[in-house]
Amino acid sequence: MTKAEQLQTVAILVPGDFNDHAIKRIDNTFNRVRIERADPALVTDEMRGNVRGIASFAGINAAMMDALPNLELIASFGVGYDSVDVGHAAAKNIMVTNTPDVLTEEVADTTIGLLINTIRDLPRAETWLRDGSWLRKGNYPLSRLTLRGRKVGIFGMGRIGQAVARRLEAFGLPVAYHNRRRVEGLSYQYHPTLKGLAEAVDTLISVAPGGASTERAVNAEILSALGANGVFVNIGRGSTVDEAALAAALANGTIAAAGLDVFADEPNVPKALLDAPNTSLLPHVGSASDHTRRAMADLCVDNLVSWFAERRPLTPVPETVNVKAKANPGKV
Ligand code: NAP
Ligand code: 8YV
Repeated sequence: MTKAEQLQTVAILVPGDFNDHAIKRIDNTFNRVRIERADPALVTDEMRGNVRGIASFAGINAAMMDALPNLELIASFGVGYDSVDVGHAAAKNIMVTNTPDVLTEEVADTTIGLLINTIRDLPRAETWLRDGSWLRKGNYPLSRLTLRGRKVGIFGMGRIGQAVARRLEAFGLPVAYHNRRRVEGLSYQYHPTLKGLAEAVDTLISVAPGGASTERAVNAEILSALGANGVFVNIGRGSTVDEAALAAALANGTIAAAGLDVFADEPNVPKALLDAPNTSLLPHVGSASDHTRRAMADLCVDNLVSWFAERRPLTPVPETVNVKAKANPGKV
């Protein structure tokens, strides 16, 4: 058998909805196995016997991995992989890959768009024009807030955080940041605590990943430190925010406004955030252009191809970087 014929025998499980371009490539290269959702109760005996890879938007938990004894690789679609139990994967010698870098600039562009929408109220101004208010009532009211004179803090100064910071420099705004570790070679002011960062700035942009270490890190104390002129933008993960505390801070003037692309329980958005006059909300579209989703799809599938043809991943997540491919892999 040629290598291409061998790859055709490798069963790749794709739970639920997936990117069309990725599906075409998986169909051309592997044996795609469908399942309605990543639920171990839906795994058949045939899947238990032959599935060696998963390609997924969705989270993959420990029970799902345990239901697939021949699973070698989870190719997660997206850079954030908080919904994959990577600790369990590492313990079971299962490789996990993600899709870093190819989406960085797109997500940074979206962040800047959301920041300006939040501060200058542009979505509501467009509605004013479209619903005839401009004709009936005259000019749209002046925006209460401005980007001018702001100091911006970035929570999560990684690949995307740095791309956002580069854009903010061009806007003439000072940037500071908080990570667990200072980033070598970056001249932006570093704050070892999130509270220290929030106290030092009036605009906080979260690009931090989800997971236990960031769970509800943006809470009432942080929002209070940001202050009454404060603007909070979240492009990272909804789980990093105490949404009830955020809604209260927006309602009682603790902060001025918030722009959110991500939520704790997507696609459910708390009514208090939907109803607030000082929120700008997007349905998790940070990377959502054809161009960038295609690049993410290619990297997701390239990881599958590299693993099953060459026995090495292209972009392993740090937690599974030491996972080794078996010397005598199944059928390939
Ligand atoms: P990255 O390069 O890994 O950057 C993550 C940054 O967060 C790192 O600088 C890291 O620094 C910091 N960090 C991690 N845990 C932290 C903690 N507990 N406290 C403080 N800082 C912490 O990742 P990226 O490529 O920039 O992506 C970042 C995140 O953006 C993703 O994980 C994903 O959740 C989100 N995202 C959202 C969208 C969207 O559509 N809205 C699209 C793409 C990505 P230290 O390790 O030094 O702490
Ligand atoms: C995608 C994202 O919307 O990469 C991420 O972490 O949040 C987004 O780019 C998501 O991964 C699609 O599943």
